[in-house]
Amino acid sequence: MSNIQKTLSIIKPDAVERNLSEEIKNEFKINNFNILKEKKVKITKSEAEKFYQVHQTKPFYNDLCDYLSSGPIVVMILEKDDAVLENRKLMGATDPKKAEEGTLRKKFGISIDKNSVHGSDSIENAKQEIEFFFKD
Ligand code: CMP
Repeated sequence: MSNIQKTLSIIKPDAVERNLSEEIKNEFKINNFNILKEKKVKITKSEAEKFYQVHQTKPFYNDLCDYLSSGPIVVMILEKDDAVLENRKLMGATDPKKAEEGTLRKKFGISIDKNSVHGSDSIENAKQEIEFFFKD
């Protein structure tokens, strides 16, 4: 039975800055994700704080919000069967040093902060994150 889902993906400032957006988008296409919508934006720190509010008690929260608002990002709505889990598998572990061979973070990530991509971690968060960037 099919279980088509949508998830939010972000190509983070480190990857946009290194001109990896097209290569990363191609990885999604090769792995049978449909890119339903995409846009390049630069968000403010307060928008980043809102986006990452689930992490607000974490010690890395401030740096994380500084970082996501430090340069242009590419946000996308991805669609596929089991998109949330499939995207997390394709991204690999949060820390590129621990990410499996062939995953996006292994291929492109620099550090746990500059890990090139973000993906929603649950269906509920995917809905909220999509709404955050694509309200209209
Ligand atoms: P992301 O999937 O975008 O969600 C939160 C981000 O916090 C995560 O990727 C990392 O880039 C960043 N981060 C920084 N330090 C840590 C940490 N110790 N554990 C988890 N995430 C971290």
